[in-house]
Amino acid sequence: MSSQPVIGVIGVGYVGLVSAACFAELGYHVVCRDIVPEKVDDLKAGRIPIYEPGLADLVKRNAQRLTFTTDIREVTERASIVFVCVNTPPMYSGDADLSRVEQVIDELPTDTGDIVLAMKSTVPVGTGARMQQLLDARGLGHVQYVSNPEFLKEGDAIADFMNPDRVVIGGTQDSAVERMVKLHAPLESEVVRTDVATAEMIKVASNAFLATKISFINEIANVCEETGADVIQVARGMGMDQRIGRHFLNAGIGFGGSCFGKDVSALKQLAGNSGYHFQILNSVMEVNELQKRRLVQKLIKHLGPLRGKTIALLGLAFKPGTDDMREAASLVIASRLLAEGAFVRAHDPVANEVARPLLRNVEISDDPLEMLTGADAAVLITEWPEYAELDLVRVAEVMRTPLLVDGRNLFSPAQAAHAGLAYEGIGRPGSTVGNPRRRSEDASDADAATQAVER
Ligand SMILES: NC(=O)c1ccc[n+]([C@@H]2O[C@H](COP(=O)([O-])OP(=O)(O)OC[C@H]3O[C@@H](n4cnc5c(N)ncnc54)[C@H](O)[C@@H]3O)[C@@H](O)[C@H]2O)c1
Repeated sequence: MSSQPVIGVIGVGYVGLVSAACFAELGYHVVCRDIVPEKVDDLKAGRIPIYEPGLADLVKRNAQRLTFTTDIREVTERASIVFVCVNTPPMYSGDADLSRVEQVIDELPTDTGDIVLAMKSTVPVGTGARMQQLLDARGLGHVQYVSNPEFLKEGDAIADFMNPDRVVIGGTQDSAVERMVKLHAPLESEVVRTDVATAEMIKVASNAFLATKISFINEIANVCEETGADVIQVARGMGMDQRIGRHFLNAGIGFGGSCFGKDVSALKQLAGNSGYHFQILNSVMEVNELQKRRLVQKLIKHLGPLRGKTIALLGLAFKPGTDDMREAASLVIASRLLAEGAFVRAHDPVANEVARPLLRNVEISDDPLEMLTGADAAVLITEWPEYAELDLVRVAEVMRTPLLVDGRNLFSPAQAAHAGLAYEGIGRPGSTVGNPRRRSEDASDADAATQAVER
């Protein structure tokens, strides 16, 4: 292993820490730097600051090959390929905030050697050219800049990193691109070799397309609700067409997380800044915003005014498998419900602690059944697999009003009806309005519906 390059990772958040641990698993030594001393101290002590399935074990197993530091010099002196994984959040203008990326360039010691600087952070098209100018201005023109966007998904991040659909490497210097290709060889993935701007665009265009697919199916779901069609069957039938594909066709309360909204907005602003009006992306964002608010309308449809009603939220994280609360739908929905005068309770299997300071007026519970006791509605926000295991009969028994509003279509209307719960999903028939406690009558309809509904 001694001839292998040492890798540097700057910014050990969701992307940086997963990348570092995976490269270590592949046998590379990895020097990780973050500016938050507490995070570095935690990692040195073997504590993982984020929740990602399998990550704690991976870090532990590869502890010998992982170094954590706050000192950038330790990275540049030891590593020959350095990945930039710092956050690039949106600014008020909607453009991506590149200050942390620029800070990394500013912090590189002036005696930095012949390293490859690989940008994994998601950045607007044109960033590479700007970074090259900053490097030149600091007398670091010999640093070889490449774009290497990351496509992992939180919740499946390790598997995504280890088995990527493709590795994209954008660079102008062949030697740097070759070093990157060789580094990734153990992944046995297809490699897209291209220029920096194209690599940057592949990343933002991919995220914008996925977000578009979600908003599209959500609009189809909304039309299904008006017309009696079932979006689950529609999506299944559409997805069988290989030109469409079956992924990202799950109707729900919209996308959240730190990436889609930010990247759609950054692409829209990037286009706007250069004089092009990217029309479709306005709709993607608007549909996504409205989708969360429609869920509140569904509650009002069943319960009337929400003032004084107790609403119990199942799930807080923006998706299952993570404790990430960035741009989570739960934040918007909880504050809308509070504004309507409801009492809001919530439970999440892993995100409770992260959520607590963000949702100060929400009663956060460690036990879903306890939270549902006496509630007027259960609202499924995050499709954690453990919620699918809930005993719905028991749920119906403990609630004051047995109503389930399923924001992710995790349950079937039949299951809910069988348990005696009024049910309202997204874009599917089978809502039970009226007296939901008449279990035996509903059950026969439910059996028929079970035949038709397949998740
Ligand atoms: N989270 C995802 O699922 C995902 C997937 C693909 C791409 N991305 C992109 O990757 C980038 C990182 O995302 P993330 O979710 O890992 O962010 P994050 O906020 O979890 O992590 C960023 C880390 O960088 C650190 N940092 C900031 N400035 C630094 C500096 N100068 N030196 C060292 N460390 C510094 C922060 O302290 C933090 O620990 C973003 O551009 C994001 O768009 C994220």
